[in-house]
Amino acid sequence: MNKNTPQAPLAIVILAAGKGTRMKSDKPKVMHELAGKPMINWLIDACEGLRPDKIITVIGPDMPELAEAASPHETAIQDIRNGTGGAVKAALPALEGFEGNVLIVMGDEPLVDPEILRALVSAGGLAVQGFETSNPKGLGRMVLNDDGSLKEIIEDADCTDTQKEIKLCNAGNYCVSADKLAGWLGQIDDNNAQGEYYLTDLPAIAAKEGVSTQVIAGAWEGAWGVNDRVQLAAHEKMLQTRLRENAMREGVSMVDPETVYFHHDTVIEGGVTIEPNVFLGAGVKIKTGATIKAFCHIENTEIKANAAVGPFARLRGGSTLGENVKIGNFVELKNAELAEGVKASHLAYLGDTKIGTGSNIGAGTITCNYNGFEKNRTEIGENVFIGSNSALVAPITIADGAMIAAGSTMTQDTPQDALGMTRADTEIKEGWAAKYRKLKSKAKASKG
Ligand code: UD1
Ligand code: CA
Repeated sequence: MNKNTPQAPLAIVILAAGKGTRMKSDKPKVMHELAGKPMINWLIDACEGLRPDKIITVIGPDMPELAEAASPHETAIQDIRNGTGGAVKAALPALEGFEGNVLIVMGDEPLVDPEILRALVSAGGLAVQGFETSNPKGLGRMVLNDDGSLKEIIEDADCTDTQKEIKLCNAGNYCVSADKLAGWLGQIDDNNAQGEYYLTDLPAIAAKEGVSTQVIAGAWEGAWGVNDRVQLAAHEKMLQTRLRENAMREGVSMVDPETVYFHHDTVIEGGVTIEPNVFLGAGVKIKTGATIKAFCHIENTEIKANAAVGPFARLRGGSTLGENVKIGNFVELKNAELAEGVKASHLAYLGDTKIGTGSNIGAGTITCNYNGFEKNRTEIGENVFIGSNSALVAPITIADGAMIAAGSTMTQDTPQDALGMTRADTEIKEGWAAKYRKLKSKAKASKG
């Protein structure tokens, strides 16, 4: 993969076999999603950026979905979850014969900074990522020698009260030469508060052998991992901020960015404006000049140039909005292909339909696409006018230039340029209302 670069061969081992009990979930911790993509895949993407020769993900024996998510990269199975040291041991067979650097990363740190990983790889000796935090509870503390090298890492549960005061914490990402790794892992024991094989014992072991040990210090952000759902939500927040900032740098305007939610695959061109409180699910593409007004929920939809959507619109899967389309408040679309200039300005459900250029869909129009058994299509031609409060019972076609009278329930096709109308006859009774009121008022008065 990496043969043309001067970098020494690199293998990356991702530790992801932990049960993640603090997530209180049946699925592996690293399969929980950020912006709709599993944590493990965010991390693998970051690792791939380093162009390693191999990526080995250590998983538990009961995690086929995780193996699938990590593929095409290989996985190694840690049969007994006896700690992070045990996890790296499980990767040793996959590293057999490998010469070069081994970068070990925590699977639950999806937003790790790739620059820090690069710095770990080029550091030499044993390099460990550290960061300072005012709230180090639960994290391994880094004890330094006078010369600033790393003496040892003490896990929170094993810290003395004085060590608990240390603010420099272990991010859990290490780089070590492959030829040292197996020997050092062999020296780790489980003689500690949690009875686990701690990978954090490596610096003390390396130092004993005279190998240099250094801390590569980086930002707190992305360095402390996801252990529970509170931390998952905090990571989502960090990631959403990154995604929005990227979009704004590309020329997208957001009135109140913190209320706009992106999916990992959202594609928005510069020149789009997004008003507050907008949720973008999977598969959304928005082209330049479009405006998404406040309170819209949009999934699997392509919105072309200069279209306007909302406020309060719901665009569901499989929809395409042509240029200059206008979708107004309380309009729901599903599987709807709207050509250029179509307008549905208020209160409509348009599902399993195709609508031609320039057609106008009146308030309250419903495509009745479901008969309780199957879904049927509504085909609406170009420059069609659908009057308000019309029910179009699918399968049905309204041809080019046709008009549908307001309040119609259409069960038959309407040919080109025809009027389709279903209405009871209108009857006007002169003076009827006045007579009625008089009669009722008299009856009320006589009752006292
Ligand atoms: C670990 C570090 C701690 C560091 C923190 C940073 C150890 C002993 N502690 O603690 O110093 O400050 O990360 O986030 O390394 N895993 C396995 N197999 C196991 C146990 C864990 O693969 O048997 C994997 C987990 O899936 C997880 C990662 O290793 O992705 C870290 O495990 P976790 O239990 O979250 O460690 P922390 O308590 O956070
Ligand atoms: Ca963790």
